[in-house]
Amino acid sequence: MPLHFPGHSKKKEESAQTALTKLNSWFPTTKNPVIISAPMYLIANGTLAAEVSKAGGIGFVAAGFDFRPGSSQLTTLSSELSLARQALGLSDRPLTPLPAIGVGFILTHTISVPHFVDTVLPILIEHSPQAVWLFANDPDFEAAHSSDEGPAAKGTAKQIIEALHAAGFVVFFQVGTVKDARKAVADGADVIVAQGIDAGGHQVAKGSGIVSLVPEMRDMIDREFAGREVVVVAAGGVADGRGVVGALGLGAEGVVLGTRFIVATEAATPEFRRKLILETNDGGLNTVKSQFHDQINSTTIWHNVYDGRAVRGASYDDHAAGLPFEENHKKFKEAASSGDNSRTVTWAGTAVGLVKDQKPAGDIVRELREQAKERIKKIQVFAA
Ligand SMILES: Cc1cc2nc3c(=O)[nH]c(=O)nc-3n(C[C@H](O)[C@H](O)[C@H](O)COP(=O)(O)O)c2cc1C
Repeated sequence: MPLHFPGHSKKKEESAQTALTKLNSWFPTTKNPVIISAPMYLIANGTLAAEVSKAGGIGFVAAGFDFRPGSSQLTTLSSELSLARQALGLSDRPLTPLPAIGVGFILTHTISVPHFVDTVLPILIEHSPQAVWLFANDPDFEAAHSSDEGPAAKGTAKQIIEALHAAGFVVFFQVGTVKDARKAVADGADVIVAQGIDAGGHQVAKGSGIVSLVPEMRDMIDREFAGREVVVVAAGGVADGRGVVGALGLGAEGVVLGTRFIVATEAATPEFRRKLILETNDGGLNTVKSQFHDQINSTTIWHNVYDGRAVRGASYDDHAAGLPFEENHKKFKEAASSGDNSRTVTWAGTAVGLVKDQKPAGDIVRELREQAKERIKKIQVFAA
């Protein structure tokens, strides 16, 4: 397959002599420190991603998990990438590449992943985002197919990454443990997203915060994959410039934020969720990391090595107080059908208490960068 987008080949050329970091050279429109908006399913749309890109960050569109032929998630992805193109003011004849735009996919729907190369790749090639973000493969599926070769290997992380590289995309892989990072790098990932357990949404059930995760992953990669160009970025618990500087201090080359962008003006977030995010404080107390959220949502795509962090709500409180699941689920369904949102799951990270205002995504990116620079100046005193 011919190289479709210069991102990956540019990376190999190491052409951008002036770039301060590998991310700057792979994504020439980025400014430091590089802010990345997370692909958040049903929230991170094409317009949001485009505004992040325009402000010098990297914006990810969330594509979901269903790659079967005819999937409505893939139809939506095409429309969102067209909207991103419009927001960037780029021509659609010919289709020029979308700078610093990526697409995030969830790989736990094991009946979907074998379709990825046939159904997803053509959409990516047509719309030309620069990067692809993969998250959460199913360990049983990977174990069953890791020794397969050729067409039999369809849908393993390694095979998907190889196909993406052949088409010229930079591949991000989000992981929550050093063990999973080792596999993702061995499978070929270019950027490891070190996701700590403060993160909102799905994550490994047994993990650690970015404070230990980022440096241990970096050391492992430097030791075990010497000579490979692998970037590490941090995700989980960052919502302002102080967190950005903290993550850079840990050795991350860029910083991913999800919860902060839930309330970006362009996000597809319903009003009641915006209000809840803005009103919730003290995330350690008022968000909960649990598999209960998927159970009450009747979501079955996640292997039990994963759980998710969400705002603590009435459903979880009843569960914690011992209400039998069937009764709780009945209340959940009744509330949903009567328009009562108090029992629904709102994913958010522990940094939710730092999210106090809604503003355009581009302003969030610029503010984070300025706050980070101010912070770096303030802490210079510690280097004297
Ligand atoms: C509402 C919400 C939806 C998310 N959806 C996805 C998703 O579709 N794919 C994915 O890879 N990660 C998803 N995540 C996790 C993010 O990629 C990221 O790890 C997390 O938001 C970082 O932590 P923070 O929320 O504290 O900034 C989601 C997170 C949130 C809060």
